Amino acid sequence: MLKIGDITLKNQVVLAPMAGVCNPAFRLIAKEFGAGLVCAEMVSDKGILHENERSLKMLYVDEREKPLSLQIFGGERESLVAAAKYVDKHTNADIIDINMGCPVPKITKCDAGAKWLLDPDKIYEMVAATVDAVQKPVTVKMRIGWDEDHIFAVKNAQAVERAGGAAVAVHGRTRVQMYEGTADWDIIGEVKKNVSIPVIGNGDISTPQEAKERLEKYGVDGVMIGRAALGNPWMLYRTIQYLENGEIAPEPTAREKMNICMLHMDRLIELKGEDVATREMRKHAAWYLKGLPKTGTVRNEINQMTTRDGMSKLLFGYVEQIEEEIQKIS
Ligand SMILES: Cc1cc2nc3c(=O)[nH]c(=O)nc-3n(C[C@H](O)[C@H](O)[C@H](O)COP(=O)(O)O)c2cc1C
Repeated sequence: MLKIGDITLKNQVVLAPMAGVCNPAFRLIAKEFGAGLVCAEMVSDKGILHENERSLKMLYVDEREKPLSLQIFGGERESLVAAAKYVDKHTNADIIDINMGCPVPKITKCDAGAKWLLDPDKIYEMVAATVDAVQKPVTVKMRIGWDEDHIFAVKNAQAVERAGGAAVAVHGRTRVQMYEGTADWDIIGEVKKNVSIPVIGNGDISTPQEAKERLEKYGVDGVMIGRAALGNPWMLYRTIQYLENGEIAPEPTAREKMNICMLHMDRLIELKGEDVATREMRKHAAWYLKGLPKTGTVRNEINQMTTRDGMSKLLFGYVEQIEEEIQKIS
């Protein structure tokens, strides 16, 4: 049973926070596909404090998504704590997560994201100050270290624990690796052995079998799935099914995939309007098409789409063509 603070999750599968992806439209789909916890994309502490319209919109949580974790990032104690207080008071999120993993220079230059990984004392100080200031459980998502010479994963996680953090999610890469190489799960396993708060392992889980293997081999309390769920919420559902009953559910058909893609689009339109949603859905539609046959032409055409109806016609036109071909063969 994975419990974060006083929140009990119904399973061990967590949707990773992903900027530009984990808004209420996709999070709700992930929740409907069974995710025990969904994480929102990171929001800037300063954006919240300056009441930047875009940042405040990112704090919206649909009741149906809960339990949900909202992630903030920042490099200064005062603003981080103030933003956490805002999230605590003004949102219906269940958990406040602090980002200590973002590798991009724009963020690390401000002492935020992965920059924290070099200084366990700073981690302690910032997490303790945040925990003191809010009611909701505070968690941290971190990478294993800054670079291969500075892997302080265990010390950093222990600092989170001492400071009163309710759980830690560990992505098994260093900041310098960005998304290259492979996640080092041995280090995630070391973290698990050295703290008593829940540890959620993250990095490179691409099948239900891998999720089960990581849970068993490294003893982590939960698995966090990111890229494998892009355009593929079935990855969450199939993993949960496999963990529960040992059965691998069939892969979705092209039509099932496009039905969910359009549900995703309709929710995104409600959230952002048709223009923005259509532009954003181009990348999602390409992800939904991944793994399906003969997608070359449809993938190119996605990028010309400017309306919901255009996208729907294009995607279902592709589905019909594929279904006809399958019928001819069988
Ligand atoms: C498009 C994208 C956006 C991401 N945005 C965030 C973010 O906002 N906050 C965060 O902590 N991690 C973010 N990450 C990292 C993921 O949460 C996760 O740690 C990483 O993708 C490794 O897990 P995976 O191999 O399952 O994808 C992002 C990853 C991707 C691919």
